[in-house]
Amino acid sequence: MERPRILAELKSQTRPQHDSVEQNRFGKAMMDGTLSQEDYRLFLQKFYGFHVPLEQVLSGFPWDSVGINFDERRKVALLSHDLKALGLSDADIVALPLAETLPAMNTLEEAMGVMYVMEGSTLGGQIQSRQVQKMFGFDAENGAAYFSSYGANVGAMWKACCEAIVKVADDNLAKEDVIIASAQRTFAALEEWLALEVEELV
Ligand code: HEM
Repeated sequence: MERPRILAELKSQTRPQHDSVEQNRFGKAMMDGTLSQEDYRLFLQKFYGFHVPLEQVLSGFPWDSVGINFDERRKVALLSHDLKALGLSDADIVALPLAETLPAMNTLEEAMGVMYVMEGSTLGGQIQSRQVQKMFGFDAENGAAYFSSYGANVGAMWKACCEAIVKVADDNLAKEDVIIASAQRTFAALEEWLALEVEELV
């Protein structure tokens, strides 16, 4: 079957932003194996600060209506698990700075665009978790739960997410444009948040 247009468009219209995030100071060092453990922790703290407010807003949408069990896709608990494995206390974790500039999430179409970026990142996570294992010996139990995400189920979870995207897009060009613009705003917000100086996080 031909790939639905919305999936092809989402991928091509966010590719430059994806590549830019992948090449950022953390992503690049992770891929070339030079990331320090300290920077790995900062990277996780950054994702924590992004996911907490995002997850809070996203959880209010009727995901069941498009076949998504939102609770299964939460990432904050995985990030907290990793940060604890790396030595942070509960008090340290709740005190971490949170992103203030979030993509707009006023409609299910906008929320779907955000979900696309968050869920798509589990695909890269398959490579990133292998790198973390190689560099630090961490696995899903002891410091790499976030990047391991759904483990052997990443493919199936991604397929279900894609099906939900197709449902929400509804073969409607106006809805597709809203989803794509939202995905682009999500990448932009993440990139801006990752680029903020990290001193405050140390
Ligand atoms: C070192 C960092 C990263 C690497 C190496 C990486 C790598 C990958 C790979 C290999 C894929 C699968 C491409 C395919 O199947 O055609 C992918 C897809 C994706 N990644 Fe990343 N990624 C990274 C970071 C991120 C981040 C930080 C995000 C966003 C939070 C992200 C969002 C996505 C999305 C949305 C897709 C789905 C593309 C699509 O098929 O529509 N990635 N990534």
